[in-house]
Amino acid sequence: MKLLCLLYSLFFFFVAGVSARGKFEWYGKTITLYSCVYEINYLKDFHFCPPTDRTCLCSNENSRATLAGCFAYKDRNSTYLVDYVVGYCARYFETELEANWFDKSYERFTNYARNQSEIEPTEEPIDFPLRFSSKDMDFYSEIANRFLLNYDNSIWYGVSVFGFWLLVLIVSSISYWTKVLFPTATKRLVGPVANFYRKHVSMPALYGKNKAQEMRGFKVFDGLVPTRFEMIVIALFYIFVIIIHAVNSRALKGDPVFGSTYLAELRYVADRTGIVAIFMMPLLFLFAGRNNFLQWLTGINYCTFLCYHRHIARVMFMLVAIHSVNYTILLVNRKYFGEELREPWLYWGLIATIVGGIMLIQSILYLRRNWYELFLLVHIVMAVLYVVGTWIHIDDFGYGIILYPTIAVWSFDRLVRIGRLLYFGFPEVNVKLVGDETIKMCIPKPKHWKIIPGGHAFVHFIKPTYFWQSHPFTFTNCSDQGEDKIVMYMKVKGGVTHSLYKLLNKSPGKMTTMRIGIEGPYGESTPAKYADKAVFIAGGNGIPGIYSEICDIALRSSPERKSVLKLVWVIREYSSILWFYDELVRLKNTNIETTVYVTRPDVSITNADEFTHIGSSQDGSIKSSEETKSSSSSFDGANAVGKLKEELSHVHFEEGRPDMEQLVQDEIKESPGSTAFVTCGHPIMVDEIRYHSCKNIDNEEKKRVDFFEQLQVWA
Ligand SMILES: Cc1cc2nc3c(=O)[nH]c(=O)nc-3n(C[C@H](O)[C@H](O)[C@H](O)COP(=O)(O)OP(=O)(O)OC[C@H]3O[C@@H](n4cnc5c(N)ncnc54)[C@H](O)[C@@H]3O)c2cc1C
Ligand SMILES: NC(=O)c1ccc[n+]([C@@H]2O[C@H](COP(=O)([O-])OP(=O)(O)OC[C@H]3O[C@@H](n4cnc5c(N)ncnc54)[C@H](OP(=O)(O)O)[C@@H]3O)[C@@H](O)[C@H]2O)c1
Ligand SMILES: *[C@@H]1O[C@H](CO)[C@@H](O)[C@H](O)[C@H]1NC(C)=O
Ligand SMILES: *[C@@H]1O[C@H](CO)[C@@H](O)[C@H](O)[C@H]1NC(C)=O
Ligand SMILES: *[C@@H]1O[C@H](CO)[C@@H](O)[C@H](O)[C@H]1NC(C)=O
Repeated sequence: MKLLCLLYSLFFFFVAGVSARGKFEWYGKTITLYSCVYEINYLKDFHFCPPTDRTCLCSNENSRATLAGCFAYKDRNSTYLVDYVVGYCARYFETELEANWFDKSYERFTNYARNQSEIEPTEEPIDFPLRFSSKDMDFYSEIANRFLLNYDNSIWYGVSVFGFWLLVLIVSSISYWTKVLFPTATKRLVGPVANFYRKHVSMPALYGKNKAQEMRGFKVFDGLVPTRFEMIVIALFYIFVIIIHAVNSRALKGDPVFGSTYLAELRYVADRTGIVAIFMMPLLFLFAGRNNFLQWLTGINYCTFLCYHRHIARVMFMLVAIHSVNYTILLVNRKYFGEELREPWLYWGLIATIVGGIMLIQSILYLRRNWYELFLLVHIVMAVLYVVGTWIHIDDFGYGIILYPTIAVWSFDRLVRIGRLLYFGFPEVNVKLVGDETIKMCIPKPKHWKIIPGGHAFVHFIKPTYFWQSHPFTFTNCSDQGEDKIVMYMKVKGGVTHSLYKLLNKSPGKMTTMRIGIEGPYGESTPAKYADKAVFIAGGNGIPGIYSEICDIALRSSPERKSVLKLVWVIREYSSILWFYDELVRLKNTNIETTVYVTRPDVSITNADEFTHIGSSQDGSIKSSEETKSSSSSFDGANAVGKLKEELSHVHFEEGRPDMEQLVQDEIKESPGSTAFVTCGHPIMVDEIRYHSCKNIDNEEKKRVDFFEQLQVWA
């Protein structure tokens, strides 16, 4: 995996390197040509040829001599430029020049040129070269610089966007890698500066508590709020983009090329925004991919990358919109718009702009949340259209090459996803309804498929109506008859999980077999393993990932350096324990202190019969209720709970909701040193734990406090 990651990085930078050397025109070395050509073209009172002669610039000897004289001003006649003109004249003016054209023309210039200011305006073609005043040549040189060097500069501004994100990734990965590489040093990092940074920048939600929990705005304006650190990054990005578009974009007064300062500036902005926007595309597509190597290099999770993806997309669309509006004004102004609109490059540009706008609207949280699959399908189709449109729009200008890394990262992601699916095979598994709202799947895995504690995988249920959907679920491991398997516990929601639920409810024993595809593993375990005390807090169905990670730490921690491990699980009813009973039993011989909070203990146990297997089968295989019904007639709820507690004597039970503020404070107080909180569950609960961990960073005992969120919310 790491090797793959390395190869991929190399590949990415190779492609990026190739594109940077692309075939688009750099104006830097030839800018003098354009400044002199402008000056000749915008001569008002003189002509070298009759107006019908379109090749005049190169074919007329006086025009050439004028050009040579203009080149020689301030010794701008470099060999490169002189040679370049040969190709330029052949391409655009149907004139084959000799290699030594400059020397001849310059000789003519020195012998016959007359000062422009000294001759009378005339309608007739003139038969001598012109010597421009140095003031005029400086002016035109500046005109060409501002217009054409803007293209060169825009490429560098585009590249600087990569630089910006590189810096962001380095800064964010520092905090991750120091925890991994220097765990002991990190624990001692409780000085005022570090604490201030962590308390006010890196850990908190943007404002108040909302992070996993969405911000409300009459449904349609609901949105996910970035963390404060993410928000700072995003704000800096906006500022950065504004700066790189604001600098260096003024036009000169009385610009002869565009007719006015206003139009010239419109054009400069149009060019800059267009070029910077296409440079954002590789990042945009990279950040959206599940197989983004940067996740492995930086320890930043998919959810955060998606947050950045959304903001880059917004910025990119704004740039594209400005680009399109400006060009429309420019073309309309020159009465070209109707004519140009028939050109594929123009209408595809327009299509891409509109598609980009639609994509922004179709991906609002409200639609993602309620019609995720539809959102995704439309999003992908639109993205293809956007890339195609952009390609046709920019290819003639030589910028098409920037799309190679864009398409490369996207295809790579898709290929790896297919590879992962094929590697796992499509096993036939038992799918079972356990408890009221939870579906359990036990999945045999290929031998070398790595179980990432706290990781997740995407599941395809191979059924005609929903095989194409892939849903992320965390997994934990189990061994079943000596075979290594992974288990997933899926809460019944409204989509596929609901279809499964209906299917299972109809099936005998609420169980069925089904072919599934697994794409994974994804995710990383948190650095909580390095803390002196790790508190894992799960709510409801958030338990599998939490359990998997804490067990991994318990198994691996060496006897000499044993960290304190605490597991807190908050559930609604006693009967919720049943589906995770086996796993809880397995905690018996570990050093994990487990507390289960039951928030609604009085809910009567309707499925008391299912409790009867407790204790009777230490291997923990839950017998189907049919099997046990006969023996359970005398069983009631209260009895069942008592039995449960007896069997799970290593688990501490509490009734009622935990007070998260108190819990966090107590855990820190009792900790022998640093404390790490890892949590997954209801978004409000997760946000609350983040909030209180953050508040306790500068505790009196100077103990290091860390917070890691396993919950990822992107829809
Ligand atoms: C990293 C991760 C790990 C998860 N692990 C678990 C787990 O172990 N157990 C568990 O019960 N749930 C888990 N979830 C949540 C689970 O993915 C969703 O509940 C499931 O996809 C809903 O499917 P549905 O079609 O029935 O839901 P719907 O009713 O269609 O949607 C319910 C909600 O689920 C979200 N959702 C739907 N489809 C997707 C998708 N393809 N990708 C991301 N989010 C989606 C949306 O927010 C939506 O509002 C996890 C989510 C993530 C992101
Ligand atoms: N990585 C991931 O993204 C990931 C992984 C796994 C699961 N999930 C998702 O996470 C969710 C798990 O939750 P669930 O639906 O099973 O149950 P839930 O609604 O989260 O409820 C679980 C328990 O948490 C309690 N609780 C809620 N808010 C609390 C708070 N602020 N403080 C203390 N306790 C609180 C509830 O108490 P009350 O009864 O008092 O409300 C309840 O007992 C699911 O939606 C699942 O799909 C996501
Ligand atoms: C540039 O022009 C000068 C004359 O002004 C000449 O001596 C020199 O050789 C020219 N350089 C090139 C590269 O042609
Ligand atoms: C023409 O202009 C040059 C400098 O631009 C100057 O040196 C020269 O004297 C001028 N010639 C005449 C005849 O005015
Ligand atoms: C999987 O679980 C078993 C116990 O069921 C454990 O012995 C084994 O080490 C676990 N494997 C991994 C990779 O976590």
